[in-house]
Parts: sequence; C-alpha cells; structure tokens
Amino acid sequence: MPAPAEGLGRSRQSAVYREGIHGRRPVVPTDFAELERRARRACSAEAWAYVAGGAGEGRTMTKNLQAFERRSIVPRMAGGNTERDLGVELLGRHLPAPVLLAPVGALALVDDESDVKIARAAARHGLPYLFSNQGCQSMEECAAAMDGVTEGSPRWFQLYWSTDEDLVDSFIARAEAVDAGALVVTLDTTLLGWRPQDLNLGSLPFARGIGIAQYTSDPRFNQIVEDRIAAVTSGAVEAEKPEVTLGAIRTLLAMSRRHPGATVANLRSLVPRASVETFLDIYSNPGLSWDHIATLRDRTRLPVVLKGIQHPDDARRAFDLGVDAVVVSNHGGRQVDNGIASLDSLVDVRAAVGPEPTVLLDSGIRTGADVFVARALGADAVLLGRPYVYGLALDGEDGVHDVVSNVLAELDLTMALTGVGSLDSITPEHVRG
Ligand code: GLV
Repeated sequence: MPAPAEGLGRSRQSAVYREGIHGRRPVVPTDFAELERRARRACSAEAWAYVAGGAGEGRTMTKNLQAFERRSIVPRMAGGNTERDLGVELLGRHLPAPVLLAPVGALALVDDESDVKIARAAARHGLPYLFSNQGCQSMEECAAAMDGVTEGSPRWFQLYWSTDEDLVDSFIARAEAVDAGALVVTLDTTLLGWRPQDLNLGSLPFARGIGIAQYTSDPRFNQIVEDRIAAVTSGAVEAEKPEVTLGAIRTLLAMSRRHPGATVANLRSLVPRASVETFLDIYSNPGLSWDHIATLRDRTRLPVVLKGIQHPDDARRAFDLGVDAVVVSNHGGRQVDNGIASLDSLVDVRAAVGPEPTVLLDSGIRTGADVFVARALGADAVLLGRPYVYGLALDGEDGVHDVVSNVLAELDLTMALTGVGSLDSITPEHVRG
C-alpha cells in the first residue's frame, strides 16, 4: 500500500509543530481572531481605520461574516481519498488553488513596500495577485517582482473607471503590457463609501499621496497634471490658496516623500500636490454605466471581469454583455452599510446565471473552511483581502505568504475530513443553512 501523501494541510501542520519542538511559535497566528488582534497592535491608527474599517456602522462587514457562520459544513465519511487536488481552471489558466489575492489600496500605510511584497508572496504560491488601481507601487514594479520569483506568474489588474477616457485606455494598455490575465473593473466604488473610522480621524490616505502610484507612473495622468499646473501658472485658472498649518506642512511632506523622485526636489515642485488634486478629481467616474462597460470588448484583448456585483440581474446583464467573469463582492463591506452579505448574493447570482459562467466571491472570506463553503455555494474561486493584509502587517512578504499557506492548509484538511478529493466534488449538499 503506498504511503499516504502528506498533502498541504498535514505538511503545514507538521512545519508548525516541528518549530514548536524548538519552542518557536508562528509569527502569524493561525486563526483569524488572533491574527486581527495582533495586526491591530502593529498598525498605526490611520492604517487600522483604513484597512479594518467599513461603511457606516459596520453592519455589512458583520453580515459578511455571519453569512458564513449561519452555514454549516456537513462532512461525509470514508471517502477513501488520500490526496486532495485543490487545482482549478480559471479564465484559461490552471491555478494550484481557488484563491486570489484581492486588490487592496493604500497599503503603504501598513508597509512601505507593500504591493511588491504581496506580489512576491502571491508568486511563491503561484496564485494571482490583483494589482490594485490604488496601489503603492506601479503595476510594472509588481509584475517585475512576480517575475523575479517565477517568470509569468499570474497577475490581474483592477481598474477604477476614471472620468478621463484616455487614462482608462492608458491603464488598459499598461495592464496588457504587463501580461495581466484579466482586467477587473470595479463597479462598486464610483465614490468612496461613508467610512466613519477614516472620517473620525480626518484621514484619507490618497490626500497624502498614498495609493496613487498607478497614476503617478502613467504618461496620460502626468500629462493631465502638467496641463493643470500650466493652467494655474499662466493665470488661466485661479490657484487655490492653501491655509498654512502644521498639519498641511506634514501632508505636503508626506506627498513629496511618496511622489517619485527625490523628496527635496519634490518639495520645491508643484507636481506632487497637483498629482494628488488631479487624482481626487478624476480617479473614479460617478457616471459609470453599462454603456461604458459595453465599450470594453473593443478596447482590450484581456478577459474582462466585473467586480462588485450583488444583484442577480446585474450578473445576468454582465454576461449578456459578454464579460468573462463576475466577482460577487460588497468591497469588504466598505461601501454600503447594512448591505446584503456577499455569500448570500453569491447564492442568488449562481442560481440566476446557471452553472457555467465564472463567478468569484469576495468579502468575508477568512479561513480555509470559508473557501470550502464558498465553493459549495457556487464560487469558482475566492478573493482573500484583509487576512493577508494582517499578515503583511505582522511579517511583511513572509506574513502574506503564511496567511495564504494557512488558508490553503485548512481548505485541504477540510476537504480531507469531509470526504472530498477535488474541488468539483464539493457540492451544495456539503453545506446546510
Ligand atoms: C478603495 O478601494 C477603498 O476601498 O478604499
């Protein structure tokens, strides 16, 4: 009889327990509650407000988690599987597991080299990282970081639809050039939601130049900034006279530090402040409509994914327009308070579109058991967000890597202990409630 294969779950457990023999405990806690507690201690108040905060009273965030708690996994016995296959085909590419790293903006709040560290951790797992449109390193830097680990490791690009159509095209062209596997258009953030944690601190990272690296690295964006400065210096547009306070000086310093180039030169230049102002004016389009989405097929050869879908009719409409996939998401509960749980939307969306179209789930996934439930209820794969950010806060690239390892290990063990050998064998019958 062949020796039973270790499997992801057992090898992860063994690695942790082996360290325990030497008295070493995991730097990154293996349960979400403790991970969150420790990450909070490692973050500034502004970082924590932005990352952990949500819309309004936080009810959507709570519901996202409760929707998982409400459901119960029903294990089946004696399945005879010594090995599990976590692999999945997604938009024409084989992935080792049904997990992607969600786009999260402004993470220099947590770690100066946030996005490239996340990129490397994702590449070590062979899983896609969705480069954030509000990232802190450019998509070219992130792609190079991933290629440094494994050439061609999967990456997607998240697009916020700007009010400047040429900027939209420029981002798309850059995403194609870095070999993005998909263009993920985020529909749910045409404006920022009402976020009391940030509001109570008066903290908007972008206003300090944090999270605008895709823009300051873009030729079209830089042209708009130059035109803006020219309009002011020529007197065609009246310059705003900022109130000079200690806080304003600090903000200017932060912008100059974040802006590409030398801080001293940036402090003497009008560009960093004009870049922030331009970003705030044009980064998203409150008038975004299905007519905009309909133009995408002619604007890119990349698979198009729509993120932020919550109503089944919107999912149907998306597929009628020929998109390749949707991400059921409420933006981690950051946009609308007291909104429907993402997992509940998933059930409605899957029922509406049938078994074939590619549907991903984002918002509320914390553990490997959650990935199992999401698969059972119709998700082809899931996006992981806050958990890996907390890993980043605790241990940089390795912290992100560890969080993902833990989620995959638990998924593997959950499959083993419920009697399934592959993702396709996880069915709605495995979940009650
Ligand atoms: C932007 O994506 C945000 O959620 O702040």
